[in-house]
Amino acid sequence: MQEREKFGSRLGFILVSAGCAVGLGNVWKFPYMCGKYGGAAFILIYLIFLVLLGFPIMVCEFSVGRSSQKSCAASFRELEPPGSRWHNYSYLGIAGNYLLMMFYTVVAGWMLYYCCRSLTGEFTGQSLTVDQVAAKFGEMTGSPGTLIFWMVLAVVISFGICSLGVQKGVEKITKIMMICLLALIAVLAVHSVTLPGAGEGLRFYLIPDFERMMEQGLGNVVFGAMSQAFFTLSIGIGALAIFGSYLDKDRSLSGEAVSIALLDTLVALLAGLIIIPACFSYGIEPGSGPSLIFITLPNIFNQMAGGRVWGTLFFLFLSFAALSTVVAVFENIISFAIDLWGWERKKAVLVNILLLILLSMPCALGFNILSGIQPLGPGSGIMDLEDFLVSNNILPIGSLIYLMFCTTRYGWGWEDFIQEANTGKGMRFPAAMKGYMTFILPAIVLLIYLKGYWDMFAGQGTGYLLPWMAAAVLFLAFTGWSILGRDRDQKKKGSTK
Ligand code: TRP
Repeated sequence: MQEREKFGSRLGFILVSAGCAVGLGNVWKFPYMCGKYGGAAFILIYLIFLVLLGFPIMVCEFSVGRSSQKSCAASFRELEPPGSRWHNYSYLGIAGNYLLMMFYTVVAGWMLYYCCRSLTGEFTGQSLTVDQVAAKFGEMTGSPGTLIFWMVLAVVISFGICSLGVQKGVEKITKIMMICLLALIAVLAVHSVTLPGAGEGLRFYLIPDFERMMEQGLGNVVFGAMSQAFFTLSIGIGALAIFGSYLDKDRSLSGEAVSIALLDTLVALLAGLIIIPACFSYGIEPGSGPSLIFITLPNIFNQMAGGRVWGTLFFLFLSFAALSTVVAVFENIISFAIDLWGWERKKAVLVNILLLILLSMPCALGFNILSGIQPLGPGSGIMDLEDFLVSNNILPIGSLIYLMFCTTRYGWGWEDFIQEANTGKGMRFPAAMKGYMTFILPAIVLLIYLKGYWDMFAGQGTGYLLPWMAAAVLFLAFTGWSILGRDRDQKKKGSTK
């Protein structure tokens, strides 16, 4: 058997994992959620979730990956006790990775598009009115050809990087992208907070406004903060576990998880620091939803001195964030085929390029030809559905499964987990968390999951609420049954002994 590839350096591992974590979640979702849910008040809840929920689950994923030396397509089978069915989660994990990329590649394409168009000066020019800049976004999403072209470009570039291998491709290039990203973010943040009138934005961003938060409904805010914590750290579908599997046993996993989570949080907070003061400086509401980046900000750049340069640098920063994530998840996707069927990397790359281009079509076409399909309620689209399925379903449930797998004796078990997590130099995993992780944390995740469903659909009438709630409960029941039951084949094998 081929030997498993490894990272060349510790920095490489941290930057690739951080590259996976730092993505659209940090630079696109986080700032607009911040604007919508009351700035610092939302950040506070989000930070609490990162520590209480994100950190332990992150260590679980890394441990499962490093111990099994496999991606999530094969890791459970490797570690589970005989007769159990945890390996059935691999299907959902694999589906989660593909589903995530089915819309992520499209938005990554938008970033590339906006970067090039800012460079060519299409969004800046004295004669452009606010409405004309806004209309550019609609022109882009309205054109299937444009969306598909840039999506295909994102797919091909990212798989191209993966095809070079773990060390020579993913590690080397992600390292460069992440270092440029950190440099860009510093320059952009300094520029933004020194704009005239930025102080008011800083106040909004840094002083909690609990009233504004309550207006949005506490349930929504808490659910939003939890989903965002899962999403931004990339936990629940083995996206980090794969990098654990390329890691040697030099360092303990908790310390590495802390570094990665800190880097991720830093980028999210700085992205907000770039965007929110700029909005206030130009007298624009920052809570304007997903359009914040593609309509509000280009308008700001259009009015700003040197806007063409600043706009280009900003979208370059976003492109790095998006591409480093796509590369990381593609690496995971490639490793599925390698782990399951022993494919050559080249073959896995070629097949998946075609597959992902095809799978990304519904999202791209959902903005134009298929815009009549609105499964989550009026005004939503195919992308919203894909995002909802991953972010609000597979990630929390997957996180729950990683958690239970590592804590209960019916799974891999606490002892093995803690031993793997603590192998190597560095921070020990807080052992006192056992009771909390076994009983309290799963209950919290489950509760917020169901409550979130309720809040999301309750306002839309029973026509949406009932089918979606039924789907949520069925999904839970089916997942639970397929994983917690006993494996019949295995039992038969056992009884013939
Ligand atoms: N964390 C990434 C972001 O913030 C998204 C992401 C990448 C992800 N891989 C993941 C989310 C795996 C969940 C699971 O954009």
